[in-house]
Amino acid sequence: MPFESLKPKVVALLANQEQTLTKKLTAVCQLLKQSIDYYNWVGFYFKNGDKEELKLKAFAGEPTDHVIIPFGKGICGQVAVSNQNFVVPDVKAQDNYIACSLDVKAEVVIPLFVAGENIGQIDIDSHTVDPFSKADEDFLTFVNQSVAQIIKKKDF
Ligand code: SME
Repeated sequence: MPFESLKPKVVALLANQEQTLTKKLTAVCQLLKQSIDYYNWVGFYFKNGDKEELKLKAFAGEPTDHVIIPFGKGICGQVAVSNQNFVVPDVKAQDNYIACSLDVKAEVVIPLFVAGENIGQIDIDSHTVDPFSKADEDFLTFVNQSVAQIIKKKDF
């Protein structure tokens, strides 16, 4: 697992003062997708203003139709209200799931907290069944904490 070697790279991409937040997040998505073979789509969703919905802000992988996701809908929408990590080893076993691609077999969504508030999430889709371990959850939590350090609530 390249997680330990990826951590300083994530921090460095987020520290790039030349780039907008969206470009920095896109660079992080690209790094993760390129570096981990079972990460086939990587994206950041954030709460869309005062609305009870998520909006896609940055991603790497195939474009998705699901740019807006209402709270409670799909894996992402459930994490928006539960504030808990959601690891899905097999998406076929989920009733409340929004399919982006028939190739996707598994998904993990980790909430992103700023000042204790769940303001967004990182979402990983995989074409491999049951690929995610506690190490993925810990790494993605680190990524989200790193993002939280460079953003302020007013950005969203
Ligand atoms: N599968 C997600 C929707 C977002 S796509 O994976 C990009 C869900 O069920 O919330």
